[in-house]
Amino acid sequence: MLAWQIHSYGGNDQLTLSATNRIPMIKNPNDILVEVHAASVNPIDIRMRDGYGQKILNVMRNQGLINTRSEFPLTMGRDFSGIVVESGRNVKKFKPGDEVYGVLGAQRQGSHAEYTISSEREMAHKPNHLSHVEAASIPYVALTNWSAINTAGRLTANNTTGKRILVIAGSGGIGTFAIQLLKAWGGEIVTTCSGDASEQLLQLGADYTIDYKQQDVLTELNKLPRFDFILDPLGGDKGEQYSQFLKSWQNAKYVSIAPPFLKNFDNYGILPGLVKNIGDLGCSALKGAKDGKIIRWAVFAPSKQGLKTTTDLLNSRQIHPVVEKVFEFEDLPSAYEKIESGHSRGKTVIKMK
Ligand SMILES: NC(=O)c1ccc[n+]([C@@H]2O[C@H](COP(=O)([O-])OP(=O)(O)OC[C@H]3O[C@@H](n4cnc5c(N)ncnc54)[C@H](OP(=O)(O)O)[C@@H]3O)[C@@H](O)[C@H]2O)c1
Repeated sequence: MLAWQIHSYGGNDQLTLSATNRIPMIKNPNDILVEVHAASVNPIDIRMRDGYGQKILNVMRNQGLINTRSEFPLTMGRDFSGIVVESGRNVKKFKPGDEVYGVLGAQRQGSHAEYTISSEREMAHKPNHLSHVEAASIPYVALTNWSAINTAGRLTANNTTGKRILVIAGSGGIGTFAIQLLKAWGGEIVTTCSGDASEQLLQLGADYTIDYKQQDVLTELNKLPRFDFILDPLGGDKGEQYSQFLKSWQNAKYVSIAPPFLKNFDNYGILPGLVKNIGDLGCSALKGAKDGKIIRWAVFAPSKQGLKTTTDLLNSRQIHPVVEKVFEFEDLPSAYEKIESGHSRGKTVIKMK
């Protein structure tokens, strides 16, 4: 089968379209072989191509927690939409021919290939009204949002109505999904974006936008009522400054999905990285606790419940895919360039079929 792979870390020149791969085989009875029809491209693919997370992934490989023992060749791509080719003997919900969409846990080779292996807990039936390209734009950002908003943030369809929510960077893949989910659950949403993205985000459900290029975001936030929940995809030095705009009640939460975990492992090694992570997490928690606020980090994780809720919201037309650009499979390096150059307005997807 054809697969875009790297044989060492680096820039786009490391990407090769290899035709020598065998179609992956089902080795675990819970696994499902999927013919990939479309897959999205995310900033994580660019970072993995550059070597992000390599230290911890190698530890997992040595412990047998990753399906392939060797680091290379490595295939990127964390989500897909496609058709089930074969199911392991424990699989109950999916059969060959089913149209599915889903994600790949960190232990798996990626979806930027003609076939991939996933499992029941990582996938759902594709909503019928969506094309494979539209469906592929959803799962990775949906489940990262689920991890931040529901698992860490404790927000649900039943407790979000009327809550004031700040979504930083509303115009990207994460933000365009977050705004729609939180609006479907009844939140009042303020978001930061470049001016040209404002109209699109208001249409997706944001109530108010702050143009971070023309306005001083902290000054503008200071003029607004405080928030029950802040989602921050960008993190960094500025990130936790936003927590000052949380309401002073016990459950107000700031959640960053740009934690330093993997970078600390890459920069300092496994043990010193672990110590640094514990220190960073402790500092953040203490800073928040001092003011009675909760500061959390969240990362993407497969979630059956998250995918079910997402599928229901897609089927009831409360969430719509926001596909900005589609590239042919053969042109994948251009899709990576597009993501790397920034300024996304929704999602970039590659199309195999
Ligand atoms: N922890 C995890 O598992 C996980 C998973 C997925 C994503 N993430 C994090 O989430 C980030 C965003 O992901 P994504 O998929 O949404 O990326 P994306 O699609 O590339 O979007 C990023 C968006 O942010 C906007 N932006 C840049 N700087 C900004 C600023 N200072 N204020 C407001 N908006 C700004 C960009 O547009 P303009 O530059 O034109 O304004 C772009 O629309 C990733 O970089 C990563 O850090 C984490």
